[in-house]
Amino acid sequence: MNNYSRHFIFFALLMPGHLLLGSKYWCPKGHFNLNQHNFFQKLARDVKPKYALETGFCTGRSASSLLEAAQLKTFISIDINLDYIKPEGRIFAQLLQKDFPEFKLIEGDSKVVLTNDFFAENFPHGIDWVTVDGDHSYAGCLHDLEVSSAYVSEHGIIIIDDYRSSGPDGVSIPHVTSAVDYFCKHHKEFKITVWNHRGKGFAILTRCETQDTIINRVTSSSD
Ligand SMILES: C[S@@+](CC[C@H](N)C(=O)[O-])C[C@H]1O[C@@H](n2cnc3c(N)ncnc32)[C@H](O)[C@@H]1O
Repeated sequence: MNNYSRHFIFFALLMPGHLLLGSKYWCPKGHFNLNQHNFFQKLARDVKPKYALETGFCTGRSASSLLEAAQLKTFISIDINLDYIKPEGRIFAQLLQKDFPEFKLIEGDSKVVLTNDFFAENFPHGIDWVTVDGDHSYAGCLHDLEVSSAYVSEHGIIIIDDYRSSGPDGVSIPHVTSAVDYFCKHHKEFKITVWNHRGKGFAILTRCETQDTIINRVTSSSD
């Protein structure tokens, strides 16, 4: 048994949620909980994204939740530091890229990586699902929202983690909430829906009525 397997079993025993989930892609450590995982999967099954982008991979919990629930053609996640949680970040980045050929991880700053050339090359059909969970500063979150929203497809959605978060399960990150509120104020075409369970919150944005109906249904059945 290698070191990672020992580590895996140790954390699996410590964290019953991991055993309940029963997926080898769910890292025992991370900043995304099981309620969020369940919500992501329900939403992904109904929204049916083909092209996805994420800022903030960390240990890949949000990424694997989406990969397992959707039939994606392209999914790129960007993280400035895969050692943010060490060694799990790199282990899960490698595992997901091996098992899901549609998945690619780029280690870099989203403010540098997300250029017009990047979008033209990787998302010529637009993006159906964006997860914003990287830089949690006001400027960082707003940047990720502004640049990615320009390439979101007509029926696309943007999910921002930690919107209006608080205890017991989340922590308050007012910069993220303010960035999302500022973005929505200046992009009236996007409608916002809020999901929150025990303080862990998402803002979900879309400008498509069909997706809005789906988001509302999934959100109200997952409170
Ligand atoms: C809250 S964690 C993301 C959790 C992740 N979505 C999950 O499910 O485990 C935030 C991550 O964003 C990354 N990050 C911070 N600033 C960034 C930036 N400017 N560009 C890309 N990633 C960034 C950090 O390295 C960290 O791994």
